[in-house]
Amino acid sequence: MPFTQKDVPGNAPHGGALEIRMAGQDEIAALTKEAESYPTIEAKSRRVLSDLELLAVGAVSPNRGFMTNDDYTSVVEEMRLANGLPWALPITLSATDQEVANLEAGKRAAIVHEGEIVATIDVADVYTYDVSNEALKTYKTDDKEHPGVAYLYSQAPNYVGGEVTVLRNVFSHEFENYRRTPLQLREYIADNGWKTVVAFQTRNPIHRAHEYLTKCALEITEGLVIHPLVGGTKGDDIPAETRMKCYEVLMENYYPQNRVVLSVFPAAMRYAGPREAIWHALLRKNYGITHFIVGRDHAGVGDYYGTYEAQEMFDQFEPGELGIEPLKFEHSFWCNKCEGMGSDKTCPHGKEDRVFLSGTQVRQMLQDGIEPPQEFSRPEVARILIADAQGKA
Ligand code: ADX
Repeated sequence: MPFTQKDVPGNAPHGGALEIRMAGQDEIAALTKEAESYPTIEAKSRRVLSDLELLAVGAVSPNRGFMTNDDYTSVVEEMRLANGLPWALPITLSATDQEVANLEAGKRAAIVHEGEIVATIDVADVYTYDVSNEALKTYKTDDKEHPGVAYLYSQAPNYVGGEVTVLRNVFSHEFENYRRTPLQLREYIADNGWKTVVAFQTRNPIHRAHEYLTKCALEITEGLVIHPLVGGTKGDDIPAETRMKCYEVLMENYYPQNRVVLSVFPAAMRYAGPREAIWHALLRKNYGITHFIVGRDHAGVGDYYGTYEAQEMFDQFEPGELGIEPLKFEHSFWCNKCEGMGSDKTCPHGKEDRVFLSGTQVRQMLQDGIEPPQEFSRPEVARILIADAQGKA
């Protein structure tokens, strides 16, 4: 059965223990058989399946399932679980009217994906929700052009709350060698003797600015976890398979092997900017991380959020409440006069001396087979991205 693991190597998980919701190997067959008689709820998106993986491995501890109305309302309105613990974004399972007609509080239901049972849920409650309110509070916008908001509006009209037991992780074979669970990453960190570890969240290839942040951070901490998000991004983001090749080549050539580890973060991207920065940090705390990099427009999309709004969000909590230290970085760039990376904080020169390329410019260069300057991206990374952009990866 799922279990609560209190004694874990490293820092305390959020709420004090890891809530591991994966069924034991020896009971999966019997539980799956039993679930065949349960009413079903379809896992309607990749995000739901990603959330199930996060629950399975304890990454969203202390949550044990999809949020009940109490937790959901408290998180949306106050950024706290009903018990007062900080929490930034809802974890929800949407269901159609037809599906909920068969559910009963106190009974179990099966969550299915492509006709197969992937989890069971102990139904605690079924409730309707105000999608516009959720969007405005969590995304700060109701604009359906925003990918996170569009997702909210694509859901079925009810949420089902309750603890889950995960029977099958559909993603377990993706990047298998890098898919460390919170417990496994904690063990890796402990084996290396790192007392302080910084995580770098990213949904992009690592360019020079990203590399700079990670290396500045590693000057402060004993270890660095490059923790790219692989649980689903929007269509025009670079696919995880290509990004992983970039991270590997960078690790090989530019990072000290004994201080840095590459491990994947299986969450789906929400693009919720400031609130997602808190969510990203709390989940990393569960992975045994002590410090977290927050740079410019963290988890942002378009111009919905201010450049440093995600950093400011951390100030809404009392020191120590989150249990993970944000390392805040200003917009970084290469400066030709400094002959190095810097930011407004460290570089006195003007815009004309700084190497800045927009996402659109970079995409165009890669499509045309042109390597961006090495002040922007390492050539090894640029070559992989060119192959990908030209469909040869
Ligand atoms: S994110 O959605 O994961 O935030 P991205 O992969 O682009 O997107 O960024 C990863 C991290 O690096 C975030 O903390 C972001 O704020 C930071 N970052 C990205 N580019 C820069 C930059 N040029 N200067 C400072 N921070 C940056």
